[in-house]
Amino acid sequence: DWTPFNFVEMTVEDLKKQVGTEKVVLGLSGGVDSSVAAVLLNKAIGDNLHCIFVNNGLLRKYEFESVLQQYEGMGLNVKGVDATDRFMDALEGLEDPEAKRKAIGRVFIEVFDDEAHKIEDAKWLGQGTIYPDVIESISVNGPSATIKSHHNVGGLPDFMKLKVVEPLRMLFKDEVRRVGASLGMNPELLGRHPFPGPGLAIRILGDITREKVAILQEVDHIFIHNLKEWGLYDKVWQAGAILLPVNSVGVMGDERTYEKCVALRAVESTDGMTADWVNLPYEFLQKTSNEIINKVKGVNRVVYDISSKPPATIEWE
Ligand code: XMP
Repeated sequence: DWTPFNFVEMTVEDLKKQVGTEKVVLGLSGGVDSSVAAVLLNKAIGDNLHCIFVNNGLLRKYEFESVLQQYEGMGLNVKGVDATDRFMDALEGLEDPEAKRKAIGRVFIEVFDDEAHKIEDAKWLGQGTIYPDVIESISVNGPSATIKSHHNVGGLPDFMKLKVVEPLRMLFKDEVRRVGASLGMNPELLGRHPFPGPGLAIRILGDITREKVAILQEVDHIFIHNLKEWGLYDKVWQAGAILLPVNSVGVMGDERTYEKCVALRAVESTDGMTADWVNLPYEFLQKTSNEIINKVKGVNRVVYDISSKPPATIEWE
């Protein structure tokens, strides 16, 4: 019988045999899959697991610091690398969604490769690949996705010549969560919404600037915080805010304003392939919209996205 407990026992034994005393490098994304893979590997091989958590400057507000702290608190041997400048430089002036994705994927590989080289004598690349990623061949979430979808561009970076260890490759998402729970991981971490590898870059329509990222981080933070406060976060499969490339007219006191517009999006889904917009309570939307407009400088209008997938995708880019 498959139980999370049996899975952990067996997998830890297998990993010990497979990896022995060799070193493993693993990219943490802050998401469920890479985190559970890391905790399993850590249980099997301890500090021979070297985790790398890259800040691409496109994460949620406080995300890099708080998730890094959580990883350290879990006893993981993890290095946080703030590569915000490299990502921002690479994104400068890019407007096309695919161009932005490619630039982010490329820089991620460069940064990860630089860091992997600093770990002497690493023999393995650990990945949080899960079963749907395997069958789809290109996974949609996490650093592993970025690696895969770009791996035919130019020569292979050195870390991709490592042997691959993927302890979750036979599991579905709900099983990964159960394994994480059985490993004693924080339920909040295990219940996190999916978040795209290119992060806020694909939620800022058009070109990316630090100022736009900062605005969107504030908006997103209010939205997500309120969802949690209202007990709605766990009822929603994924939620986030989108910064639109339009200004609209508003009034503030006696002044006419001409400022940015944001869209809020919350969907129900099981796998992201299809999705329905969530019927959030009007009072929630009202309070959240007021709070965003009052608190976030530069935003004077909030709209709620009521499109389902298909034909609309979850992300706007
Ligand atoms: P769409 O927008 O295609 O999104 O309906 C489906 C799911 O995939 C995520 N997504 C991405 N994840 N890199 C990722 O790692 C990407 O480029 C990317 N694009 C979309 C999206 O957040 C949703 O969960």
